[in-house]
Amino acid sequence: MINSRITEVEKLSQNTSTIRFKWDQHAEAGQFIMVWVPGAGEIPISLSHLGNEKGITVRSYGVASEALIKKREGERLFFRGPYGRPFTKVEGRKLIIGGGSGMAGLLPLIDEKSHGIVAARTKSDLLFHDRFPRGHVTVVTDDGSAGIKGLAVDGLKGLRLEDFDVIYACGPEMMLKSILDRIRDSGVRAEFSLERIMKCGIGICDSCSIDGHQLCTEGPTFSLEEIASMREFGVTRLTESGRRIWLGKH
Ligand SMILES: Cc1cc2nc3c(=O)[nH]c(=O)nc-3n(C[C@H](O)[C@H](O)[C@H](O)COP(=O)(O)OP(=O)(O)OC[C@H]3O[C@@H](n4cnc5c(N)ncnc54)[C@H](O)[C@@H]3O)c2cc1C
Ligand code: FES
Repeated sequence: MINSRITEVEKLSQNTSTIRFKWDQHAEAGQFIMVWVPGAGEIPISLSHLGNEKGITVRSYGVASEALIKKREGERLFFRGPYGRPFTKVEGRKLIIGGGSGMAGLLPLIDEKSHGIVAARTKSDLLFHDRFPRGHVTVVTDDGSAGIKGLAVDGLKGLRLEDFDVIYACGPEMMLKSILDRIRDSGVRAEFSLERIMKCGIGICDSCSIDGHQLCTEGPTFSLEEIASMREFGVTRLTESGRRIWLGKH
């Protein structure tokens, strides 16, 4: 377990904070760490900031994430990692699609050639839409409080997929499913970062498996072709007790 002092906590909204800490370990966009909050639990969180001072951006969701965003500068952060397969680096124009807290792990990919689709339930839930080059972000909210009223996939209207060399996406599984259905026959290269319950983070417990792939070691990033061949993607997932539940409307 690594133990690092927190150097900064930046509150981004009522329920979301970026926690910065010193850690000179090499890590790449798309990788995650398992963060242990004593008394609350251990959860997977993507690295939102790389370099010698790393960062994670956490949205309060349940017991452990809520305890994590209450951390203050000078306190200790306990974690292990980095884990997981990073996004493949592709030169050229990137289309980056992030839904909710899914934007956190995509932040290190943004450069001057990127265009973003940033989606959230409501304006106050938008994350990192201000980090894209001016005029190169499409904002989408469920309630229309900012940008287009609709879902992330609606942000693709008006964009030409052939203008991009790669699409990177992360967000709720049903969001990723609708994007997969929209782009799968376009021939564009794409990678999605998936989420599943993770307990060990190192390929032992199988709680993160999807169609026989373990997300923590083989993912969490997968190519469009790999995801298109997963029968469980967008259909079912395992709960913390290992029970299989249906996603979406069935
Ligand atoms: C690879 C990966 C990277 C992640 N990166 C980030 C990040 O950068 N920022 C961020 O805010 N969150 C991220 N998450 C999500 C984060 O791990 C969960 O929000 C967290 O585990 C919730 O734990 P909790 O104790 O706060 O909530 P709990 O009290 O454990 O959970 C509340 C509810 O959420 C469900 N749940 C818990 N974890 C997950 C999960 N992983 N997938 C689906 N449902 C779940 C539980 O079954 C329960 O119903 C990531 C998840 C993964 C797998
Ligand atoms: S989290 Fe245990 S095998 Fe992936």
